[in-house]
Amino acid sequence: TAPSDFHFATTQEAKKLVKPRRKFSHKGTYGHALLLCGSYGKMGAAVLAARSCLRSGVGLLTMHVPEAGYTILQTAVPEAMTHTDRHQKYLSELPEGLEKYSAIGLGPGIGTDKMTKAALAQLLTTSTSPIVIDADAINIIATSDKLKAELPKHKVIFTPHPKEFERLVGKAKNDYDRLQDMKEFCREYSCYICLKGANTAICTPEGTIYFNTTGNAGMATGGTGDVLTGILTALVAQNYSLEQACLLGVFAHGLAGDLASQKVGEIGMIASDLIDHLPQAFIALT
Ligand code: APR
Ligand code: MG
Repeated sequence: TAPSDFHFATTQEAKKLVKPRRKFSHKGTYGHALLLCGSYGKMGAAVLAARSCLRSGVGLLTMHVPEAGYTILQTAVPEAMTHTDRHQKYLSELPEGLEKYSAIGLGPGIGTDKMTKAALAQLLTTSTSPIVIDADAINIIATSDKLKAELPKHKVIFTPHPKEFERLVGKAKNDYDRLQDMKEFCREYSCYICLKGANTAICTPEGTIYFNTTGNAGMATGGTGDVLTGILTALVAQNYSLEQACLLGVFAHGLAGDLASQKVGEIGMIASDLIDHLPQAFIALT
């Protein structure tokens, strides 16, 4: 049994978190997210994050992708506005007017090119919006204490899988020590971490840890992490607190995986199946 200061995110808790929609709301009510994703050959991560962001209720979505991703995104995700980087293959700059976005998602498929590192450094020091940081954006920050020191306080959600976690926080002797290390890191940088795995662990800047109770091994397939980034960015954009977004987003992500496995099983499951089942997951939680 887990020590008393661990909590479990259950259906009842998730149901309490979902904000029902009001009749006279409009797309501005549901925020405007920005996703900084993709690089040459990894545009699929940007498509998956975009689709899951839209399927998680965001009002408006703008993508900022390298030039190579323009036709891909405009074709694959017509509901998103697509802004392109000057560079053909990698992110090298930020779009104008960051302050108009209510949430920023960063990382899926971006690679670790040094131009991207420079743009990421600028984002950390100029953005006033909360930022979901995933995949290679984690790996870039993990290489630099300077970037870690510039993390805006109470504005960042990291979503590392165990390898990315080890790079960012350090190697732990065992699972229990890893959770203690996670608490210390979240306290030190006033950030949130969703340590992804069979039971994703969510840690807050206060050091509270929640274990997710949904999901299955069918989700161990490329792209499901990109889907979670889209979900979390959408919830933060809709003005959920960072803690609510982590709890609800991780829960809904795993619930979508469970609903998907009822249809396609675990072996044949692909990340797009989770996106296809996000509407049903949110219906179940409303
Ligand atoms: N049970 C429940 N959920 C699982 C399980 C499991 N057995 N295995 C994985 N998941 C979930 C994780 O909780 C996480 O939400 O699937 C997701 C996997 O996310 P990532 O590891 O980020 O995978 P992703 O990035 O989408 O793509 C696959 O690319 O980032 C690289 O090497 C990395 O294996 C990763 C690969
Ligand atoms: Mg990933």
